[in-house]
Amino acid sequence: MPTCATPNASIVVGAQWGDEGKGKWIDILASKADIIARFQGGNNAGHTLYINNEKIVLHQIPSGIFHNDKISIITAGVVVSPVQLLKEIEEVQRVAEISPKNFWLSTRAHVITPWHMYLDSLFETNAKNPIGTTKKGIGPTYADRANRTGLRIASYIDNAQYNQWISMMCESQPGFKDHIQQNQSLWTEFANAASEISKYATEAEASLRKELKNGKKLLLEGAQGTLLDLSFGTFPFVTSSCTTSGGALASIGLSPKCVDKITGVAKAYITRVGEGPFPTELTDEIGKELGRKGNEFGATTNRPRRCGWFDAVAMRYAADINGFDDIYLNKMDILSGFKTIKVAVAYKHPKLGNITEFPACAHILKEIVPIYEEYAGWEEDISSAKEFSQLPLNAQRYVRALEEHCGTMVSYVGTGPNRQDAIAVPH
Ligand code: IMP
Repeated sequence: MPTCATPNASIVVGAQWGDEGKGKWIDILASKADIIARFQGGNNAGHTLYINNEKIVLHQIPSGIFHNDKISIITAGVVVSPVQLLKEIEEVQRVAEISPKNFWLSTRAHVITPWHMYLDSLFETNAKNPIGTTKKGIGPTYADRANRTGLRIASYIDNAQYNQWISMMCESQPGFKDHIQQNQSLWTEFANAASEISKYATEAEASLRKELKNGKKLLLEGAQGTLLDLSFGTFPFVTSSCTTSGGALASIGLSPKCVDKITGVAKAYITRVGEGPFPTELTDEIGKELGRKGNEFGATTNRPRRCGWFDAVAMRYAADINGFDDIYLNKMDILSGFKTIKVAVAYKHPKLGNITEFPACAHILKEIVPIYEEYAGWEEDISSAKEFSQLPLNAQRYVRALEEHCGTMVSYVGTGPNRQDAIAVPH
């Protein structure tokens, strides 16, 4: 029996350091899918959506939830904050229906507990070189999963199993028992969330495989971005999950044979939150202006994002690792008004010379300087353009230059935050 009736899964991942604006595209693509699944990360992510001009930020629930007839899944590879999830369910209920019929939570997903949040904060505060994490407990939860001491949804919603886990942790983890005793209200709120959460808990991956065998279409939604991937990002300044297309399949237990399309989402420039090397970062007025015009503040932590020119070296790397069929290029409208726009096409290292491949080590990346190509900018506001031919010629040239530098076609250009602000690029 083949895994899928035909390859019927598409994957959308971030091509940069996250915050590329994946939510909007996933929302658009969700109309063509039957099932939308979030495959990694936790409430460190924030997808901002504008539905009927209303701003909605989702941290854990897939953006597809706003399409009535679709199923949304949080899969095994995700780490879940139950209290935050309940808040999100309430938020969704303001504008859409959410029930165990259209929202499945994998019993295999791991749970972020108050302990994990505490550890994340503790490590960050005490670290000589902090990562700049979101302090949501993501790293320690994934660490406990790898250590085989983590708490899965299946055990969290089962009283006896939950109590066994608490006992095991009290015996094996120094400080855990004290943390419970000193933070009783936090732990009570956490434990109380289980009964409401349990409504949605199910063996999601098994049900998903059945649906795919029946020809249903799946959209896999990534969080964060390729350069934050645990293995292929700028380690150690990365998140603790696999953010790439390959990671998607491992996190949902699906055969690569099911995949028919892989899309990377990128901004027309680049941003990063938290610490870590960032070759094209602009610490000058231009960087500040990109941040102001692009409203570059983290959806989860509200921290200002660091801004820089588009990095084609990093993009080629992301395209290679993920096997992008195409790129959706966001926030082109933000570049209006810049006289000159730069693109990093290679790096120069003081000892290694010119580099055209993205280096594996953060310290090398920190030492390089980008080699730029410059493009003439455009003055016009492009937010009302509906077709590629309506974009200023210099904007069209910029898109074509990025395609050339990245070796991947740009299928859509984003010119604003709403669903309709998307222009198809002819090929
Ligand atoms: P953590 O995922 O909270 O452990 O943080 C690790 C790194 O990933 C930090 O640099 C965070 O700022 C970054 N990060 C985590 N989630 C996101 C996101 O959704 N967008 C952008 N950066 C993120």
